[in-house]
Amino acid sequence: MRLDKFISDSGIASRRESAKAARLGGITVDGAVVKDVSKHIDPEKSKVTYLGREIIYRRFTYVMLNKPEGYVSATDDKSLPYVTELLPDELRRQELFPVGRLDKDTTGLMILTNNGVLAHSLLSPKKHVSKVYCFTAAEPLKAGAEEMFKTGVTLADGYECKSAELSLSEDRLSGEITLTEGKYHQIKRMVAAMHNRVVTLERIEFATIPLDKSLSRGQWRYLTEEEIKILENANKI
Ligand code: URA
Repeated sequence: MRLDKFISDSGIASRRESAKAARLGGITVDGAVVKDVSKHIDPEKSKVTYLGREIIYRRFTYVMLNKPEGYVSATDDKSLPYVTELLPDELRRQELFPVGRLDKDTTGLMILTNNGVLAHSLLSPKKHVSKVYCFTAAEPLKAGAEEMFKTGVTLADGYECKSAELSLSEDRLSGEITLTEGKYHQIKRMVAAMHNRVVTLERIEFATIPLDKSLSRGQWRYLTEEEIKILENANKI
C-alpha cells in the first residue's frame, strides 16, 4: 500500500498534508526518513511515524462533523444539500456515511464512518448509546416535564419513550435532553407531547464524545484514537 494512502486511511492527515510533512522530513518508515509518499509499505508490518507519533493502522475512517442547518443526513440527494458534500473528495471516495440521522434543521455533532458493522451496532436500541441535545422551545416547558421525561413520555402515536433526562434553564424555554434511543423526530415529538414545539435543536454529545467546540458549522475533523476507543467500547456493552 502507498505510504500516503496508509496515512490518510489511518485518519492522521490527508494525502496532501502527508506529502508536505514527508518533504520536511516528518515521516519515518522502520526508523528511516522517507521523503516520497508514493513509497509502498506493508500496513501490517511497517512501523510508520508521522511528526514523531507512531501510526496505528486503521482499516476504517471516523470523522466528526458539525452539521449545519439545511443539510440532510445522507450520502446523496437529488435536490437538497447532504452532509457528505461537506467532506473533501479524498474522504468522499472512502464512502463515509452518517452514524444515525439528524433532521435537516438539526445542527451539531454527527459522526461519519465507513465501518458499517460498528455504525449499525451503535444504533441498536440494545446498546443504549447516549446522545445529548440542546434545544429551545416555543413556550416554557410545563411543570413536571423533567419527571415525565424520566418516567417515559408517551408520543402521539402511543409509543412509550424510554427514560430520558431533561434539564431546563431557569425560564424553562431551553435545556438539554439525554436520550438512549433514536426514534424519528424523537425530541420534537417528545416536546410536542407536552403541547409545545422545538424551535432549535443541536446535538452536543454522542456516546459521551462531546462536539468539538473548535469546529464551526460545516467543519469536520478526524476522531482521535481515544474517541474511536470510546465508540468501540460503547459497542461492546
Ligand atoms: N430528535 C429530533 O426530533 N430530531 C433530531 O434531529 C434528533 C433528535
